[in-house]
Amino acid sequence: MNPAPPRPPAGRIDLHSHLLPGLDDGCRNLADSLACVRGLLAMGYRGAACTPHFWPAQFPAVSAALVAERVAALQRAIDREKLLFRVWPGGEVRLFEDADKWMNLHGFPILGGAGGGRTAVLIDSWRGDWPRHCDRTVDAILARGLTPVLAHPERSPTRFGFGRLLDRLARRGVLLQGNLRSFGGGEGPRALSLARSFLRDGRYACVASDTHRAEGIQDRRRGLEALADETDADTLRRLTTDAPRRLLNLDAEDAAGG
Ligand SMILES: [Fe+2]
Repeated sequence: MNPAPPRPPAGRIDLHSHLLPGLDDGCRNLADSLACVRGLLAMGYRGAACTPHFWPAQFPAVSAALVAERVAALQRAIDREKLLFRVWPGGEVRLFEDADKWMNLHGFPILGGAGGGRTAVLIDSWRGDWPRHCDRTVDAILARGLTPVLAHPERSPTRFGFGRLLDRLARRGVLLQGNLRSFGGGEGPRALSLARSFLRDGRYACVASDTHRAEGIQDRRRGLEALADETDADTLRRLTTDAPRRLLNLDAEDAAGG
C-alpha cells in the first residue's frame, strides 16, 4: 500500500482579526476586507477567525449568531475571488461589568464557531486594574469548559503587579495572545518591550494580527518580520501556526476530511 501523500504545508492561522465589513472599527467595506485577506495571504496566512468587538454598546446587536451569518457571506465573497483563505466566526469580548451575563444570554463567541471540539474565547480589557467582574467573566468561560484567551496583554495599561496578575491567570488556564503590531513597534515602546519580555518568558500561547483595515497590514507585516528576528523558527511556527490550529481543532477536522 502506498503511503498517504504528505499534507500541504498548514500555513498560518490568524486567531484575532476585524475582517467583517461594517460591523465594528475594523474593515469599512467588502473591498477593505478582501484587501486585508490578500495582505494576510502574502504573509503566509491561510485563514482567520473574525473577531469583532463585543462591546456593551453593541450587545445584543452583535451576537454570535450574527457573526456566523456575516462570516458565511464574507467566505462566499472570498471564494468568488478564488482566494484560498478560510474565515471562521469568533468575537473579542470586552471584560465589562455583566459580560458574563450577556454571554450567558446571547451566546459565547467561540473562536471557529461552536461545535467541532472548539473551545477558545477571546477576551480583552483596557482597564488599568482587574476588578472582580473580570474574574467573574473568566469564571463563566471556564465553567462552560471553554478556554479564555486574553488578547494583547502587552497593550494593557495595567502597570502594577501585572506579572503577578498574568501568573495568576495562567494558573487558572487563561492563555495569552500577543499582537504582531506590538513586535514591530507600532504600539509604542512600552508594548514593544512588554511583548519582547512576554515572548522571552514563554508567556504567549499564540500571536495574531488583530488586523483592522487594509492600511494597517504593512504594520502587521513588519511585526511578523520583527517576531521572526526575535525568536527561532520553531517558536514562530508554534505561535502563528501550530497553536492557532490546535485552538481551532483544525487538525482533527482535516483528519475527518472536513
Ligand atoms: Fe481586536
